[in-house]
Amino acid sequence: MEESPYSEKVIELFKNPKNVGEISDADGIAKEGSPACGDMVKLFIKVDKDSNGITDIKFKSYGCASNIATGSIITEMAKGRTLDEAKEITWKEAAEELGGLPKIKTHCSVLAVDALKEAIRDYEERHGLAKERGPTDEATVKERLKHVMNPLTGLDVVNSEIVKEIKVQDGQIKIQIDLEENHQFSSVLEEDIREKLEALWDIEKVVVGFSE
Ligand code: FES
Repeated sequence: MEESPYSEKVIELFKNPKNVGEISDADGIAKEGSPACGDMVKLFIKVDKDSNGITDIKFKSYGCASNIATGSIITEMAKGRTLDEAKEITWKEAAEELGGLPKIKTHCSVLAVDALKEAIRDYEERHGLAKERGPTDEATVKERLKHVMNPLTGLDVVNSEIVKEIKVQDGQIKIQIDLEENHQFSSVLEEDIREKLEALWDIEKVVVGFSE
């Protein structure tokens, strides 16, 4: 029999992952896609406002065994920690907890860890804890848009050069996308872009324009 590339722990958590599901009244939510494989993971956190501790955490994965096992392990690691402590969890620690991952599968665990960081950021932005990062500018917007996938290429919208223009002015972001307005993916894309940008603390309006 061929030897499995996965540790026993990965296989065990893949079969019986912990903390799978959704939190309907979550305080922070992340949806992260991987440019490397096109898979996706969603993560939800519930936070105690007084202690800033993560009281509940759940994830849903549309990825591979490594991704599911990492989602399971990082949600276990993050539960009960404060937001600042949970931010410190790295994919390396997660991979170590899992007894190692095949090198080719690094991006899968990075994806799960990124989802945790994004959910924390989402919480902080929605609760006015992100002000110290300074005002939103074009660079901030670009950074966010690197987490939005272009469904046509499987790459993010910045690297696939579908974003033609970004303008940030007076609490408003205007984005021009190089895709026809009635394209089958335009509304999904608009929704994903809004989701990533509307929570920015100093932004009131996001306008997404498409080609004629
Ligand atoms: Fe896509 Fe692992 S191959 S998450």
